[in-house]
Amino acid sequence: MKILVCGGAGFIGSNFVRRRLAATDDSIVVLDKLTYAGNRLNLAAVESVPDLARRFEFVRGDIADPVVVGPLVDDADAVVNFAAESHVDRSILDADAFLRTGVIGVHVLLEAVRRQSDGRARRFVQVSTDEIYGAVEQGLSVETDPLEPRSPYAAAKAAGELLVRAYVVTHGVDALITRGANTYGPFQHPEKLIPLFITNALDDRDLPLYGDGLQQRDWLHVDDHADAVGFVLDHGTGGEAYNIAGGELCFNRDVTQRILELTGKPWTLVRSVPDRPGHDRRYAMDGKKLAALGWRPSIGFEDGLAQTVRWFTDNQGWWQAMRSGDWLDYYERQYGWRLAASTPA
Ligand code: NAD
Ligand code: TYD
Repeated sequence: MKILVCGGAGFIGSNFVRRRLAATDDSIVVLDKLTYAGNRLNLAAVESVPDLARRFEFVRGDIADPVVVGPLVDDADAVVNFAAESHVDRSILDADAFLRTGVIGVHVLLEAVRRQSDGRARRFVQVSTDEIYGAVEQGLSVETDPLEPRSPYAAAKAAGELLVRAYVVTHGVDALITRGANTYGPFQHPEKLIPLFITNALDDRDLPLYGDGLQQRDWLHVDDHADAVGFVLDHGTGGEAYNIAGGELCFNRDVTQRILELTGKPWTLVRSVPDRPGHDRRYAMDGKKLAALGWRPSIGFEDGLAQTVRWFTDNQGWWQAMRSGDWLDYYERQYGWRLAASTPA
């Protein structure tokens, strides 16, 4: 099978590419715009191994550009779309790119999939998120729950899902949706909670904990997330959505405490900062639908977090390079005033 992987130079997409090429005979074309979040180095483990590199091609381009997308979709047997702007805080600062990629980009991909020039159906997997359910005060979200996004990021992802659904119903496209939980692991951009706190701790910088730190997230290791997307591609039923739950609900405060223990740094680094507006208090999903199909996560949060801290400790060059470009401006805009107004946590 030849798979077009959009957003394959990012955190989860590059993990999918590395794992899929190693585990199967598939060939993969990555289409990635290389935004601040995309990094060609995430694919070095593929490009430097001849047997994998032979089955791999990289194209730099935008999923919202039909001229680039059309021929790549025509040439593929399946399309998996990881491409998105993925950080809630950035969507609060400026949502334009979220809508362009999450709505127009998904639309362009779906149009290319439905207009395949040879009449051969291509399976399309849209990688989505538990954030489309909005905050879940209690219980677990199931796939039939309503979409109630509360941040511009989540709204753009929900819009992408609605387009997929429309193309399934109206045009008979063989499309599926995955809704992954909060994901962590090696190669995650240091803007997200876990890598931000690990790298700041390693650098003896403040850890900016939003509000009371009693928000809860369900943590899923990136290897499990990528495996589940591949499992849905291979075994899912067209037209369906699947939760990919981690099953490891944790308060942000406890995640922070664990990171400090693993890095050997003191709690005094933690600062309570003004909260994210519209901050979702809790996400929690029911993973039974995917379990019934035969997939369950295999990496526990305790082991996965320890492995992730080791990876960031051993790969300082990778994340120091990601903290360049617009990083300082972003950090100042997001955290400058918050840290100035912070209190001990
Ligand atoms: P990421 O930000 O690390 O990577 C996104 C990738 O998409 C980057 O390589 C970027 O260059 C590329 N990209 C962005 N816009 C593009 C465009 N217009 N055209 C082509 N490429 C483009 O994101 P991630 O954390 O790997 O997330 C991947 C997907 O999984 C996203 O769709 C996200 O919504 C979803 N997801 C993420 C999480 C999480 O916790 N990280 C959880 C659930 C779902
Ligand atoms: P994040 O990694 O941004 O993922 P999401 O918002 O998609 O869940 O944040 C995870 C949790 O950590 C969320 O409750 C917000 C919180 N958080 C902080 O307290 N401080 C930070 O600096 C960041 C980035 C996140």
